[in-house]
Amino acid sequence: MSNDGVNNSRRRFLAASTAAVGAVGAGAVAVPFIGSWLPSAKAKAAGAPVRADLSKVPAGLMMTIEWRGQPVYVLNRTPEQLKNLKMLDDELKDPASETAKQPAYIEGQERSVKPNLGIYVGLCTHLGCAPKFRPEVAPADLGPRWVGGFFCPCHGSKFDLAGRVLKGSPAPTNLVIPPHKYITDTVVIIGEDGGAA
Ligand code: FES
Repeated sequence: MSNDGVNNSRRRFLAASTAAVGAVGAGAVAVPFIGSWLPSAKAKAAGAPVRADLSKVPAGLMMTIEWRGQPVYVLNRTPEQLKNLKMLDDELKDPASETAKQPAYIEGQERSVKPNLGIYVGLCTHLGCAPKFRPEVAPADLGPRWVGGFFCPCHGSKFDLAGRVLKGSPAPTNLVIPPHKYITDTVVIIGEDGGAA
């Protein structure tokens, strides 16, 4: 299943600086009785890996890809945003992601295979809301220490741009990283293990 083309798919979109994550509505589907024991092509596709071309994500922004019915955030972080990740250790619950759910090939503060390209399941580890992308530095509502990250509107959990949860948040752990595999420098298969191309 290909997800190429930002404008070609309803399943993903570029998020601007105040991006909100849209729920992908599938609508009601009448399911015949046989569907309860024979998985439909649609059901199979819903669990299938998805392919994404990350070269389409502008620096400093993100896009959302749907995988297994959940949003996956893909960020193209700028050098400045990467630098800011290094200043946050004291403010994080688990800076080294020791308790985080993530593949073995994920390393470092960036929590990514490629330093700039971060891939995270966009569900808060508290109760599963979709955190909002807030890349601004020191916005009025998040305070002077905010250097960009994700803010969960449900109960106020805060995550940095590597999906690491800040102290004081109800979310217990960092955002989950899905299995993924690069097949070129910028094309990635989400849902298959492998890491680097
Ligand atoms: S679901 Fe995100 S803070 Fe509760």
